[in-house]
Amino acid sequence: MRLKAIGLVAGVSITALAMLVGFGAGIGEPGSAQAEESRDRDGDRDREQRGKRLSEIDRQINAHAEDMVERGRQIFRFDTYGSEAFFGDALQLHRAIAGAKNGGVGPGVSPKTALAVGLKVDIDALPNQLKAQLKAGKVNLDDPATTLALLKLNAVLGLTGRFDSSGRITSLGTQCALCHSRVDDSFAPGIGKRLDGWANRDLNVGLIVSLAPNLKPFTDLLQVDEATVKKVLTSWGPGCYDAWLDKDGKAFAPGGKRACTLIPPAFGLAGVNLHTWTGSGSVPYWNAYVAVTQQHGSGVFFDLRLGGTRDSEAQYPVAARSGSFNVRGTPDLVTSKLGALHFYQLAIPAPTPPKGSFNTAAAARGKEVFNGRAQCSTCHVPPLFTEPGHNLHTPAEIGVDSFQADRSPTHMYRTSPLAGLWTHQTGGFYHDGRFATLAAVIDHYDSTLRLGLTSQEKSELVEYLKSL
Ligand code: HEC
Ligand code: HEC
Repeated sequence: MRLKAIGLVAGVSITALAMLVGFGAGIGEPGSAQAEESRDRDGDRDREQRGKRLSEIDRQINAHAEDMVERGRQIFRFDTYGSEAFFGDALQLHRAIAGAKNGGVGPGVSPKTALAVGLKVDIDALPNQLKAQLKAGKVNLDDPATTLALLKLNAVLGLTGRFDSSGRITSLGTQCALCHSRVDDSFAPGIGKRLDGWANRDLNVGLIVSLAPNLKPFTDLLQVDEATVKKVLTSWGPGCYDAWLDKDGKAFAPGGKRACTLIPPAFGLAGVNLHTWTGSGSVPYWNAYVAVTQQHGSGVFFDLRLGGTRDSEAQYPVAARSGSFNVRGTPDLVTSKLGALHFYQLAIPAPTPPKGSFNTAAAARGKEVFNGRAQCSTCHVPPLFTEPGHNLHTPAEIGVDSFQADRSPTHMYRTSPLAGLWTHQTGGFYHDGRFATLAAVIDHYDSTLRLGLTSQEKSELVEYLKSL
């Protein structure tokens, strides 16, 4: 049974596995490595005992679970849901990537540029010969033709090119992995093994989309000119994306600030009730929302709260106009995949931090502060680090403005699950990245909740947050 359990995560990536198995002890609960080891041994014995007693139905359930995880992994990484109709046929993004020399338009996107805008390359998708050439510096990273070759190998995370029989790129689709995967950089920066579920905080989605030769789908939908669309798209910057723009048309926050939200991780979500920064729904709710209304795949999405009732029309004028609260794409390439996709995301554990990335003794004291004086655990209830139940709060409760909350049907903010926080320390914290550092987050709570923390307690809290 132990081997089987490891088998489930092996496909995620060797590194994630190494972290789970190799670095596992001594992290998590600081100072309790031995207790954890003995618990592990007991767990193994329990599982062995259970294995012997497995009935036929139990075995069916286990086989089903394994099948769901495997299918979900394929969908998460490779399914475009028919989004080629939008990114390729409508936006013509593939032509901007190809460049004029390769039958497209403009200078094209070289691998260097692709990496610079945060796209990631899956080393395991490359044949050995190409890996050797790359190592030897014999691959031209300034030539868009190389980017096309990588797309042909399906080596660019979250982007799949379609090619005709003469090898010309004809379209392009997107996957969940575009925003919710990174690589471990083991080969070179931006090139390595997949880390599914990790937030890609390097990815400049807006900049990439703004390269599209045809932005008419956006100008038509938002009823603004092309310059305005470009201004909005390029305001987002790395790791940030606005999934509500096509519903409410709010391009900027008050004061002209960008209106996007940071890409969150898609790991460690089992047991968490509501998802997204503003708790707009469950994982399958949000997956349908994104696949159908953001990636523009072909499928069904339904939510009357988003402009489908007289009450919600004022909040979601664009959706009310376009009907994107009730989409019935045919064929439906999304609905049949939601189960496995959900299952897979719930199976991705939050990765444990590498040894040495935080001070163990200080983290142990920080844990006491978190659960005690600082009252963090009243909302971030361990080990979920969000509330079991309706895990939402008013903006006032956490001392922030309501702009983003009011774009959601909930008008609230969801208590962020904190496990794996160490994997997304770039781009800032909170939904819009307003706090550059964990220390700044804690200072904010200290003043908002009048905690009166000492500077030592604050730094211990930071170490604890880094250990989660
Ligand atoms: C263009 C980038 C992008 C793509 C593609 C994308 N997402 Fe997201 N995802 C985001 C952003 C940004 C948010 C936060 C949205 C919000 O809170 O309003 C998010 C939120 C989520 C969440 C909520 C996480 C949490 O902590 O509650 C999950 C789960 C998720 N996405 C899964 C997926 C899946 C599955 C797909 C493919 C169907 C997908 N995403 C495609 C950018 C993306
Ligand atoms: C009243 C409930 C509540 C309390 C108490 C609370 N939090 Fe939070 N926390 C939230 C909510 C809600 C968010 C999401 C904010 C947003 O979406 O911008 C959050 C977000 C965070 C984040 C940002 C996560 C990310 O991915 O960017 C960190 C870190 C954090 N809290 C740590 C703490 C610490 C440390 C304490 C104790 C000092 C604490 N919280 C107390 C509700 C709470």
